[in-house]
Amino acid sequence: MRISIIGAGKVGGAIAYTLMIGGIQEIVLVDIDRDRACGEAQDLREGIPVLPFFPKIYAGDFSKISSSHIVIITAGEKRRPSDSRLDLLRNNARIMKQVIEKVVEYNRSCIIFIVSNPVDVLTYLALNQSGFSERRVFGLGTFLDTIRFKSALSEEVEVNPSELHALIIGEHGDSMVPVWSQTRIFGIPLCEYKRLDKAKMDEILKKTRNAGAEAILKKGGACFSVALAVSEVIWSIVLDRKKIIPVTSLLNGYYGISDVCLSVPTLIGKEGAEELIKIPLSREEKEGLRYSGSILKEKIGQLELNG
Ligand code: LAC
Repeated sequence: MRISIIGAGKVGGAIAYTLMIGGIQEIVLVDIDRDRACGEAQDLREGIPVLPFFPKIYAGDFSKISSSHIVIITAGEKRRPSDSRLDLLRNNARIMKQVIEKVVEYNRSCIIFIVSNPVDVLTYLALNQSGFSERRVFGLGTFLDTIRFKSALSEEVEVNPSELHALIIGEHGDSMVPVWSQTRIFGIPLCEYKRLDKAKMDEILKKTRNAGAEAILKKGGACFSVALAVSEVIWSIVLDRKKIIPVTSLLNGYYGISDVCLSVPTLIGKEGAEELIKIPLSREEKEGLRYSGSILKEKIGQLELNG
């Protein structure tokens, strides 16, 4: 199975590495800076002799993506410390438009997976521009925030994060919504397992919400956690694992929200984003989700207004 990655920067490179050591057989790297893509591919290839399998790693232009099952898009400008994800919108919308044109030119049957920011708006643009079905165009969204949330919560309750059921939905951005009402530790409601006061809950959410900006400040941006999250989604497609993962895709009446991309729990299998899973939410969580939807719609509107 061939997976292509558009954008061979820090995030694209980390994704390629994670997929390669996980056992993906063919990886293609494409970047506007061709040397960069070739350099990453060579670095990866030179590690192959110690792997227990023999992947093929290519770099080059868009023609190489033609037989890819999945095209992952990380291309775009990075957030500067003072930028919000939405500040990036204008430039990255232009870049996304160019990338999707190329993807569609060479491959009309792939699944497109968006990692570039602002991911929710860019997923919406990519969906509209590609003309693909909404099952085949979706983005990382709040899955990254969800693993950050689990990580912070796990430290607080001192339980392995794999025993936690915890979820962030909505915008991959400031209006993200923690689903406290459904948080469980091995099936036990969080409030019964360990009562956290409001200040502690706010602290965990703040840590989750600020993680992206903090990584930008300290190391120029997160890449390993991003790559691991991407890899989980990719393997769920490749092996038809039917994992339920919060990714961003088009909503069509989910809690009354339509015509916008944001993250809700989604069944991920060989067809892509196969089904959106409606989970019970508290009144506050529903309101939070609708607020995320309204913020993102406003941004889409601004973009459409300015062409
Ligand atoms: C982050 C970027 C990828 O949250 O949005 O780290």
